[in-house]
Amino acid sequence: MKLTSIQQKMLNGENGEAVRQSMEILIALGKIYGAKDMVPVTSAQIAGVSYKTIGEAGLEYLSDLVKNGAKVRVPTFLNPAGMDRDQWQKMKVPAEFAKKQILVLDAFAEMGITMSCTCTPYYIGIRPKLGEHVAWAESSAVSFCNSVLGARTNREGGPSALAAAICGFTPNYGYHLDEKRACKLLVEVKTPLKTNADFGALGAWAGPLAKNKNPAFTGLAKTAATEDKLKALGAGMAASGSVALFNAKGITPEWNVVEGAEKVVFTKEDLAATRRSLDSSDAPPQLIAIGCPHASLAEIEEVADKVKGKKLAHMLWVCTARETKQKADKAGYTSIIEAAGGLVVADTCMVVCPLKEMGFTCTATNSGKAGKYLASMQQQKVVYGDIDDIITR
Ligand code: F3S
Repeated sequence: MKLTSIQQKMLNGENGEAVRQSMEILIALGKIYGAKDMVPVTSAQIAGVSYKTIGEAGLEYLSDLVKNGAKVRVPTFLNPAGMDRDQWQKMKVPAEFAKKQILVLDAFAEMGITMSCTCTPYYIGIRPKLGEHVAWAESSAVSFCNSVLGARTNREGGPSALAAAICGFTPNYGYHLDEKRACKLLVEVKTPLKTNADFGALGAWAGPLAKNKNPAFTGLAKTAATEDKLKALGAGMAASGSVALFNAKGITPEWNVVEGAEKVVFTKEDLAATRRSLDSSDAPPQLIAIGCPHASLAEIEEVADKVKGKKLAHMLWVCTARETKQKADKAGYTSIIEAAGGLVVADTCMVVCPLKEMGFTCTATNSGKAGKYLASMQQQKVVYGDIDDIITR
């Protein structure tokens, strides 16, 4: 791979051991994927933040990097963790887990990483522009970044995103290149979609068909396909088919479909069947988890409107970015949700928190991504539906 003199110095260890190690990771990755050179990145998002997913080995790896003087060079933020740093006791997260989770977060803070743990950085001002190169890791954020913003990122792993943050570069392959961004599957949507659960179901349906073909959608109404809904669509496809980029006609900044692309149709019946397939429980949920991906302020307002004046029969978490929570606090939405018995939680992903250890076996969600992962990674029975439906079941 062709390296600039700056990159060569990094590899020679002239910027310290952590930078040298990180450059080695980036070069190894570039070689595997045939990258000819590296591109500078303007931001990085680090995955592997929950102690539940990285465990002792991950914590040790981070501690070693800190000891070797690792510091990030570009604005860097974290994927969600397994709990809210400030509210873990209210969430009833076990103290032993909390202790370890805080050590993980402290290690990242030592490296100069912003303590925003969120999968929706674009709601808190981190919005790379069309064509800008970044190194993001969380799959729904990657999809949003490539598709809705038209910026460019591969789906980074935890170590590669961290290496990119420490060096400020990433190998130039995959979604950084024009030719990898073309769509080879055309999805004609023949039924109106309204809610997050609808868009998430389309994502869950399209993901396995699309995989690395980059789907392009026609038939989505611009008024319905808001950023919140495109977020839900991308998250559903990321979970069901590892899709990292899609186009939507007249909506996304890029419309790049190859001639002779394969065509499929999504009907009213497909929507109903997919929603049913995600809904694996008739039993009432013990936890209602909203905010996968992390909720926008408008989505928190919607939940507040629905639960205003009610007393919920089950625990409710609305997961969001810390900065969005602060806005919800100011707007009064948090206190409405708390009065109903719920919590607005920052930093947290319901899929990587210790749900089972906390005794939850059945969780409700309106997210196609959470619907998949709560079942497969957290062994939860899943209640899937629109917010109205899941808060009253
Ligand atoms: Fe975010 Fe976790 Fe969902 S990282 S997209 S809340 S699975």
